[in-house]
Amino acid sequence: MNRFSMSRRDFVRLGAGAVAAGAVVKTTMLEPAALAAQTAPSRRIRFAIVGTGIRGCDLLRAARQVPTGICVGAADLYETRHQAAKEAWGGDIPTTRDYRVFLDSKDVDAVLVATSDHLHRRVTLDAVAAGKDVYCEKPMSHKVADGLAMVEAVEAGKRIFQAGSQRVSSILYAKARDIYASGRLGEVHSIDAQWNRNSPGGAWVYPIPADASPQTVDWDRFIQDAPPHPFDPVRFFRWRLFRDYGSGLGGDLFVHLLSGIQVITGINTVASRAYSSGGLYHYKDGRDFPDLLETVYDYPSANGGIQVHLHCNQNNNDADERISFFGSTGTMVVTGNSVTLTPQDVTPRFESYGWNGMTDAQRKQGMDEWRAAHPAPPLSMIEGAVETYTVPRGYDDAADHIANFFRAVNTRQHVVEDEIFGNNAAIGCHLANYSYFHRTVATWDAATKTIKG
Ligand SMILES: NC(=O)c1ccc[n+]([C@@H]2O[C@H](COP(=O)([O-])OP(=O)(O)OC[C@H]3O[C@@H](n4cnc5c(N)ncnc54)[C@H](O)[C@@H]3O)[C@@H](O)[C@H]2O)c1
Repeated sequence: MNRFSMSRRDFVRLGAGAVAAGAVVKTTMLEPAALAAQTAPSRRIRFAIVGTGIRGCDLLRAARQVPTGICVGAADLYETRHQAAKEAWGGDIPTTRDYRVFLDSKDVDAVLVATSDHLHRRVTLDAVAAGKDVYCEKPMSHKVADGLAMVEAVEAGKRIFQAGSQRVSSILYAKARDIYASGRLGEVHSIDAQWNRNSPGGAWVYPIPADASPQTVDWDRFIQDAPPHPFDPVRFFRWRLFRDYGSGLGGDLFVHLLSGIQVITGINTVASRAYSSGGLYHYKDGRDFPDLLETVYDYPSANGGIQVHLHCNQNNNDADERISFFGSTGTMVVTGNSVTLTPQDVTPRFESYGWNGMTDAQRKQGMDEWRAAHPAPPLSMIEGAVETYTVPRGYDDAADHIANFFRAVNTRQHVVEDEIFGNNAAIGCHLANYSYFHRTVATWDAATKTIKG
C-alpha cells in the first residue's frame, strides 16, 4: 500500500484529556501529497553517501522511498559499515573508505554527507569543488568559521545545498507555519522548546563493535581537522561526547528545534544574543558536554523581538520533542506528530478582582459603567475552539526532505533548508555552547560574523 494513500479523516472528540475540561477538540489528520507527485522526475539523481553510520543508514532507508534518486556509492571509514550501507539501501553498491573516488566520477550528481560534525566542512567543500550538489546533515557546521566557508563555497559554485534538519520539510511544520502566518496566535514574543531523553542511547552511549580496531577503522582520516589523538574506539563511535568532533546537545537537538522555529516563524536569522546554563549531572563518563542545557535567546523580529527558551535534559523524558508558541490570542504547540492550537479567551469581560479592595458602592458603580459600555457582552469564544492536526502513523519527514533536495537538484530551484538557513540554525547552537563553556552571555556580531563574549 502506498504510505500516502490514506484518505482525509476529520473527526471531533469531546473532552480530550490533553486540553481544558469541557473544551471541544477538533482533530484533523494531515494528508501528505504523494512523493512521486511532488517531484518531476525528468531524471533520477545519482547520489553517493559519505558516512553510513546511524544517520547515513537511516538516510539510505528514507531515500529508498524517493523514486527520483538512486544511490551509486557509499563511503565510510569503518569497514563493516560498507555492508550496513548495502543492507540499508537494499542492494549492492560500490563502497570505499575514500569518498573522493565518487567526486571524480561524472556519474555522481550529488553527495549526502552524514559524517561526524567536524568533517561536514571538509566533505562539503571537496564535493562542491568537484561540482556536486550537497545534502549535509545537521548541524551544518562544527564551528562558525566552517559554516561561513561552506556558504561561500556553495554560493560561489552555484551548487544546491540542503542542510539535514528534516522536520522543515514535514507536513506538520507546514501546517504550523500556516497557522503562525495566519495571525491566529496574535503577537508572539515568546517561544519555548524542549527535547528530553532518559536512556543511554538518548545520551549517546552507543555500542562499540567488537571488531573495531585500527585495521577496520580509518582513524587517520577520522581525526583530520581535529587535534591529534591515538586510536580510540570510544571517540570514533561516541564522537558526540567530545568537542573535537561533536557539538553536544546544541548540535544534536537544539539545531532541530531552532530549524523548526525558523521555518515556522519565517525568522531566518541569527539570534542577537544567548545565555546558557546547565551541567553534567549523570553521564560522568569522560564526556566534554553537559547532559542538561538550557539557553535563552534574543531573536530580532519584525514585531520587536522574540525570546526563545530551549532546554534539553538527558536525565528525564517527561516531554519528548515540543515547541510552544505563546501569542497574545493563542498558543500553538508542535510535538513530534501533532500541532495543537488553543486560542486564548480575550473576550472583553468585567474585571472583578481589583474591585475586591473597594467598597460595595464603588464596585456597583464600576459594574454599572461596564454594563453601559458593553450593552451586549460577547459570549466567551474559548468553547469549541481547540484544533489539533496529526500526521498519519509512519509518516516520514526524512523522505520528504530528501525528495525536496532531489527536486531542487533537478530544477535548480530553491530548497527548503539552504546554506543560509542551515548556517543560521547551526550558529544558534554555537552561541549556546559558547555561552555555556565561557560562562558568559554570547552575542552575535553580525558585522564581523563572530561570537563575542
Ligand atoms: N537529521 C537527523 O535527525 C540526524 C540524526 C542523527 C544524526 N544526525 C547527524 O548525522 C551525522 C552523523 O551522525 P551518526 O549518528 O550517523 O554518526 P555515526 O558515528 O553513527 O556515523 C558517522 C559515520 O561517518 C563516517 N565518516 C566520518 N568521516 C568520514 C569520512 N571522511 N569519509 C567517510 N566516512 C566518514 C564514520 O566512519 C561513521 O561511520 C552527524 O552530523 C549527526 O549530527 C542527524
